[in-house]
Amino acid sequence: MAPPPASWAILTFLLISLPLISGQQLAAACTTNSFTIPSWLIENFQAVSATNATAVSFVANNRATNTSTELRCRIPGNATATTWQTCTVRGAARPVSASLQLADKVAARIQLNETWTCNDLTPARPLTFTATAVGEPSLPIICATDARSGTEIETCISATDDPLMVKASLSSPIQATPGSVGGPLGHDTRGCSNSSRLPSWEVSASQLNLRNISGVIEGGTAFLQIRNKIMNYTANCGGQFDGNRTATLSCTAQTSVTKGPRERYAIATTGTFNPITFARYAMFGTGSAQIPFQCEVFSPAVTFCTGDPYSFSGRLVNLEPLPPYSLRDPSPVGESCTISSIVAPAFRFSDFETVTTPGQSLGSIRFGIELQTGGQFTGFPSTVSRGGISGLSPTDIGPAWYPCTFESIGEQSLTPTNCAFRYDADTGVLGVNADWRCNDLDAAKPVSFTGEVRTQVPSLMCTTTGGRTRCTTVPGQPWSGNVTEVFW
Ligand SMILES: *[C@@H]1O[C@H](CO)[C@@H](O)[C@H](O)[C@H]1NC(C)=O
Ligand SMILES: *[C@@H]1O[C@H](CO)[C@@H](O)[C@H](O)[C@H]1NC(C)=O
Ligand SMILES: *[C@@H]1O[C@H](CO)[C@@H](O)[C@H](O)[C@H]1NC(C)=O
Ligand SMILES: *[C@@H]1O[C@H](CO)[C@@H](O)[C@H](O)[C@H]1NC(C)=O
Ligand SMILES: *[C@@H]1O[C@H](CO)[C@@H](O)[C@H](O)[C@H]1NC(C)=O
Ligand SMILES: *[C@@H]1O[C@H](CO)[C@@H](O)[C@H](O)[C@H]1NC(C)=O
Ligand SMILES: *[C@@H]1O[C@H](CO)[C@@H](O)[C@H](O)[C@H]1NC(C)=O
Ligand SMILES: *[C@@H]1O[C@H](CO)[C@@H](O)[C@H](O)[C@H]1NC(C)=O
Ligand SMILES: *[C@@H]1O[C@H](CO)[C@@H](O)[C@H](O)[C@H]1NC(C)=O
Repeated sequence: MAPPPASWAILTFLLISLPLISGQQLAAACTTNSFTIPSWLIENFQAVSATNATAVSFVANNRATNTSTELRCRIPGNATATTWQTCTVRGAARPVSASLQLADKVAARIQLNETWTCNDLTPARPLTFTATAVGEPSLPIICATDARSGTEIETCISATDDPLMVKASLSSPIQATPGSVGGPLGHDTRGCSNSSRLPSWEVSASQLNLRNISGVIEGGTAFLQIRNKIMNYTANCGGQFDGNRTATLSCTAQTSVTKGPRERYAIATTGTFNPITFARYAMFGTGSAQIPFQCEVFSPAVTFCTGDPYSFSGRLVNLEPLPPYSLRDPSPVGESCTISSIVAPAFRFSDFETVTTPGQSLGSIRFGIELQTGGQFTGFPSTVSRGGISGLSPTDIGPAWYPCTFESIGEQSLTPTNCAFRYDADTGVLGVNADWRCNDLDAAKPVSFTGEVRTQVPSLMCTTTGGRTRCTTVPGQPWSGNVTEVFW
């Protein structure tokens, strides 16, 4: 097979629209679910009315624990629509209480309270969760009458096949009404599911820079923008290739990643680019296209090519049902300030430094500090810096507590709102009493934490210049110190 003209290129894309579970530090399990998605799904609703009472039954599935509770409520015939009727748990005793209102046979409102415990992240200290929902939203119902043996029996069921999601507010271990996320771009576009059976993309703004040595393409770079035409999701892709080998393009979303609870499902686009071959790659959810490029010899060794917008279709390879409502659930990542502070509170310290002058009893201390979450060390911690510190040389009196004064603030949400420290030069133990605040689960209700860290400062390297001795830890290398006894 003769090599095709180099001014044609083949692009093969792996494009999984949905679902792709985004990178997580913590698997979705009891604790993270309880903090991020405390809620119930109401299913199997049925109300049967006879002359003097209505018998209601429904199932409440706790989405954090995936446990179902069957509830029954009896509504006397003379009850008003605004009276809350107590329901009882059927079967094994579960710490669920519920009450119900049946408003004129058009909707049911359900109040729920439930208490449960999780110990998946804290084996030694199980966490008790208490959640409440107050009857919003209501469940639309439809009713039908069946006259049998002279008695009119009216049966009402949910007006839709979907379960109703009732969101909860937590009252323990923290008070919060966790927010939801918007869901991935385009997921609610009209016809999204149907159109996705024949996925299509548009490549725009494509560019190739080829190393063209005497007519042989030895390598280069490729850039392009690709848009999922169904969801209108746009990604920028780029990669380098060597010789005629296929290059992997890495793609990033064009939309900015906002702060706050992260989406559980992300759209991922990856591509490969081959400057010569026409080989087709069997990949998951792929489409491939030959993109016409106009190339211009720029200099003896550089050829520059641009492509016009180009649309192509692919084929759907994977389609999986997702749990109801899960597209708008925030990702249960451990990066959460609140969850980390409750289950494994710790601070990262870095760039510890003491400066002393022989013969003087006071010196200075500097160190970086940031709350440790599931995320990486930022590299830009907030820096505490303070002079007039005692206890740094052996002749001194013991260490005293000093309020932290911040020389610079790194990531504000990871910085103590207030702290005090002491350092014992004999043992190398740094103690910090810190207050901090998290509002990642519920922006309206920040949680204030307080706790103490005692941490062994790693070995110090000392240099003496101009009569001053400066001792430091390895620059930029953080270590963590667990908070003992956290309170909130
Ligand atoms: C309900 O009505 C039936 C007759 O339809 C009657 O026998 C029964 O006593 C009533 N029960 C109550 C609790 O009023
Ligand atoms: C929830 O439990 C049911 C059975 O009780 C199981 O089939 C289902 O896979 C579970 N869902 C999750 C998300 O674990
Ligand atoms: C409904 O009737 C019962 C007796 O059948 C009575 O005890 C109760 O107070 C009544 N409730 C209302 C709201 O009228
Ligand atoms: C749920 O708990 C709240 C607060 O403790 C209480 O006011 C409410 O009546 C309870 N609801 C049910 C259905 O038990
Ligand atoms: C789904 O797409 C098919 C053609 O691909 C069309 O015939 C059908 O009407 C569409 N259904 C909906 C609900 O849009
Ligand atoms: C590479 O350069 C040669 C001239 O040296 C030119 O004829 C050829 O078209 C270039 N290749 C491409 C793909 O533009
Ligand atoms: C797609 O997104 C672009 C901006 O990213 C916007 O201008 C355009 O209107 C969107 N198209 C559709 C069909 O939503
Ligand atoms: C790819 O490049 C190698 C040497 O760099 C060459 O031997 C081979 O024939 C090339 N393949 C194609 C399909 O051009
Ligand atoms: C800090 O806590 C983690 C778990 O939260 C534990 O694995 C680790 O051993 C602790 N480190 C120290 C020094 O106690």
